[in-house]
Amino acid sequence: MSKVALITGITGQDGAYLAEYLIKKGYIVHGIKRRSSLFNTERIDHLYQDPHIENRNLILHYGDMTDSLNLTRIIGEIQPDEVYNLAAMSHVKVSFDSPEYTANADGIGVLRLLEAIRLLNLTKKTRFYQASTSELYGLVQEIPQKETTPFYPRSPYAVAKLYGYWITVNYREAYDMHASNGILFNHESPLRGETFVTRKITRAIARIAMGMQQKIFLGNLSAKRDWGHAKDYVRAMHAILQQDEPSDYVIATGITTTIRDFLIMSFAEIGVTLDFQGEGVNETALLNNIDEKVFNKKVGEAFLANFKQRIGEQLVGIDPVYFRPTEVELLIGDATKAQTRLNWKPEYDLPALIEDMMQYDIKLMKRESYLKDGGYSVLNYFE
Ligand code: NAP
Ligand code: GDD
Repeated sequence: MSKVALITGITGQDGAYLAEYLIKKGYIVHGIKRRSSLFNTERIDHLYQDPHIENRNLILHYGDMTDSLNLTRIIGEIQPDEVYNLAAMSHVKVSFDSPEYTANADGIGVLRLLEAIRLLNLTKKTRFYQASTSELYGLVQEIPQKETTPFYPRSPYAVAKLYGYWITVNYREAYDMHASNGILFNHESPLRGETFVTRKITRAIARIAMGMQQKIFLGNLSAKRDWGHAKDYVRAMHAILQQDEPSDYVIATGITTTIRDFLIMSFAEIGVTLDFQGEGVNETALLNNIDEKVFNKKVGEAFLANFKQRIGEQLVGIDPVYFRPTEVELLIGDATKAQTRLNWKPEYDLPALIEDMMQYDIKLMKRESYLKDGGYSVLNYFE
């Protein structure tokens, strides 16, 4: 008999990678998607199966983390072996604009799922994974951060996730549930949402290189993050639920990098160096040099002449609109517990992650501008 999993947030970055991973392992995967006026399943379209097919291994249900009755009905119908709660309003900056909604979806939403499992008498059958976060450490109390490091959340998002973390622990202790937290540090991929800083950068660089965008505006370049690849991190989620005992795990690479260095490394991926000038809100980066061989290989010869004309021009600026009222300046995780107990370690390092994201975004932008195989120069197309 195939195991049955329910993934909330299946249309998001992690949901897509996890669904693919579980289907490959022989699971029947159910996912909750929100009703939207446009299609919102792009990340899982390759896994989609027509509802008229028998024995599907991917089944989608309309639902929302703010709707208890809906969540309870879906869990009752599916009777899942494993629930992965990945759904959340996951953008830290946006949580300052929508704090109440964030608390409802990201905090109380966790309670709704746990309580549904309890009320449906599934506490012995259904294992529960909560998508906890390194944002819990916020104003860090220890370097590096591990499972025993005290939390100090710094945003409405992180405070909501704090509730989610503790209610998961509480249901584990109160009702003997197999309920665990994965305290995941930042993980990225070509499927990352376009407004998170890594994807914003790789997408913008592809567009700048092809003449589709002049420059990119960012916020705090000095913040440091411990970045891994989402593909590696969903393996950890699954491993956590396969343990005999539930527990909480830090999942991280143990290496931290500034946003500024991520920017430099991403431009370097296409053979471009930057000339940084100024400080704080006046910091700016100009196009310094182009390694033509690398640029031609990674982006395409058709774009070089145009881009070369921009040497000395501004490519990066600071816009304080992207600053957060309270910032998380440094995250670096110690995943020793996961390495020891789950035998988990990441396959991607940061350069490999950046290469994957840059390659994807260059391909995507080529498609967007209908430039196929370098057949037209960018000027010819736009003239
Ligand atoms: P994501 O790409 O933003 O995906 C979030 C998912 O949640 C989407 O499917 C979204 O649906 C869904 N969702 C949002 N609000 C919902 C609601 N009210 N009801 C039902 N579904 C809702 O996030 P991600 O990067 O995959 O992250 C997955 C989870 O891990 C999140 O809980 C996030 O907070 C947490 N986390 C992420 C990281 C990271 O670095 N990526 C690190 C630690 C923890 P739509 O597609 O309709 O928007
Ligand atoms: N989004 C964004 N946009 N961030 C910027 C920008 C910008 O233009 N410029 C600088 N930053 C800085 C932010 O201030 C922050 O310090 C850092 O880049 C990372 O921001 P995000 O990529 O938005 O991610 P995050 O670290 O705030 O949150 C992500 O990781 C958490 C795990 O630590 C999200 O995926 C959360 O859902 C997740 O819990």
